[in-house]
Amino acid sequence: MSEQTLSNLMHEDRRFEPPADLAADANVKEEAYARADSDREAFWAEAAERLDWGKKWDQVLDWSNPPFAKWFVGGTLNASVNCVDRHVEAGNGDKVAIHWVGEPDDDTRDITYAQLKDEVSRAANALTELGVQKGDRVAIYMPMIPEVVVAMLACARLGAPHTVVFGGFSADALASRITDCEAHVVITSDGGYRRGAASALKPAVDEAVAKTGDLVRHVLVVRRTGQDVDWHGREEGGRDVWWHDAVDGASAEHEPEMHDSEHPLYVMYTSGTTGKPKGILHTTGGYLTGTSYTHWAVFDLKDDDVYWCTADVGWVTGHSYMAYGPLANGATQVMYEGTPEKGRWWQIVQDYKVTILYTAPTAIRTFMKQGREIPDGYDMSSLRLLGSVGEPINPEAYVWYREVIGGDRCPVVDTWWQTETGQIMISPLPGVTAGKPGSAMKALPGISADVVDDDAKSVGNGNGGYLVLKEPWPAMLRTLWGDDQRFKDTYWSRWPGLYFAGDGAKLDEDGDIWLLGRVDDVMNVSGHRLSTTEIESALVSHPKVAEAAVVGAADETTGQAVCAFVILRDSAGDGGEDIVEELRKHVAKEIGAIAKPRQIMVVPELPKTRSGKIMRRLLKDVAEHREVGDVTTLADSTVMDLIKTREGSSSSED
Ligand code: WT7
Repeated sequence: MSEQTLSNLMHEDRRFEPPADLAADANVKEEAYARADSDREAFWAEAAERLDWGKKWDQVLDWSNPPFAKWFVGGTLNASVNCVDRHVEAGNGDKVAIHWVGEPDDDTRDITYAQLKDEVSRAANALTELGVQKGDRVAIYMPMIPEVVVAMLACARLGAPHTVVFGGFSADALASRITDCEAHVVITSDGGYRRGAASALKPAVDEAVAKTGDLVRHVLVVRRTGQDVDWHGREEGGRDVWWHDAVDGASAEHEPEMHDSEHPLYVMYTSGTTGKPKGILHTTGGYLTGTSYTHWAVFDLKDDDVYWCTADVGWVTGHSYMAYGPLANGATQVMYEGTPEKGRWWQIVQDYKVTILYTAPTAIRTFMKQGREIPDGYDMSSLRLLGSVGEPINPEAYVWYREVIGGDRCPVVDTWWQTETGQIMISPLPGVTAGKPGSAMKALPGISADVVDDDAKSVGNGNGGYLVLKEPWPAMLRTLWGDDQRFKDTYWSRWPGLYFAGDGAKLDEDGDIWLLGRVDDVMNVSGHRLSTTEIESALVSHPKVAEAAVVGAADETTGQAVCAFVILRDSAGDGGEDIVEELRKHVAKEIGAIAKPRQIMVVPELPKTRSGKIMRRLLKDVAEHREVGDVTTLADSTVMDLIKTREGSSSSED
């Protein structure tokens, strides 16, 4: 972030007080902070009491072997029972769990908690029939259809950790995740609808499965679009099974087993600073406690709310705040298959009388560009609370969101957290905290965050540094799948006893927290985490590329955009006319369309220090059209002049 933007951020003095009626009736009041401070474990134990347990825990937290935490030790529970069965048993079976809105107009389904319970039970029986047992991993690669939630809950019911892979990821990315967590079953669909057309998913699964030897035994396929698929059924010795054949006829009775509180619930892969994605492991009791409590507290959830989180289920937001948190709380929510198109979201808010909307700054900025006339054409008076997640929200977008979408009456909660934290960590409480546009404000009750300098000393108000978390929290990752050492090295090695999140932050004069973006080689594009190294590896795997360097450059809509600098091999000559397009397509094939560079520059050299380290800072200056900074540590200081003369000559933007 530039100094200019930073100083603008820090001079923000607008304040939005909580609405009086919301404050009076808020789920969580100011006293919660002091209560949690005086006895953190008792505070989280009370939050855990909101769930149904088979056997109560003997110990709230075991932190005797840091950084490996155990929460609610000795307790047993079943996540799917907490998300469905208990609401039916409490007499809320007829309450709508999911108002599902397909992308094609009028393609909608309402699913009650009773229906969800039956469907999850059928799917659990069908998975058992396919040989899935407690502890087995199941990969899920699906569009935003109700069956993805059913599949996740069915896995949770059996104690079979799922790993959901975003449907926009490539066959290669899917294959590497299947291999890393050794999944024997993949659940997918023939395809899904995106931007008005049916797009296929099954071919990518076939390709991925072929790459993983004989690891995958069954592929369970939901029929969504009806498009032709290459089918290898079990009759002919193949792996494919139609969901409708396996699930629809299965029994709706399924006796759930209670699992240990620390039983693995899921693995979610996310990009790190090296090329290999990290498998973030979340377990059952602490995760469900952390997500359900924060969903209830931060969104001030009431029984008659209609909640809508616009995230795709392939990311952690879709896990914590679409699947597990809201369903554990028995909420009614909207689930939408499509992408943010003009007017369609606001039509949904109007039709379903949505009261709480949770989305990302990149979507808000896209709507800002389209103009307020579009949302102004809809009745959105049902809204009472707005949430933001995924990247820092700039004050302009915050104020626009508040005024245009929220009619100047809805508080905005800017929620900071990560795939690793599992639950929201820093956010205003809507009935307590005044909102400052651009600040995520304070650590939630029971959470301990600070901003420190290189020596792990608290920077104090008015200063910037690194964001750290000082105490364990219930939904924290337990480790990286199969790699305890990398877990320690990545998060706990910089300063002993502190969790380093990878974000820069600043405390303002009041002690409120302003997130300033990543300080490592991780980019944030449209709220999605991408690794520079991973994209560099994808580029150098192309036969024409000798070397590549990738940086995240500021982008008005997506926050950051991928910019790549490549050196071609001598044998490739000038690479040919379409080299830029060829390389962009190659990255999409290797990782997924979201990783496609916005810009690729073919350059003769890269700026390196004498020890051979690429100076990305200088490349970032070029990508952001700034004066290039200090070049004195370069091995060859003329390199930047060579690169600058190429600027614009071989770029591509769409
Ligand atoms: C990174 C985590 C949390 C779910 C979506 C992304 C950035 C996230 C905010 C926010 C400023 C934010 C951080 C964080 N981030 N929320 N409200 N303000 N930055 O999850 O892919 O694990 O990425 O997203 O840089 O470290 P993720």
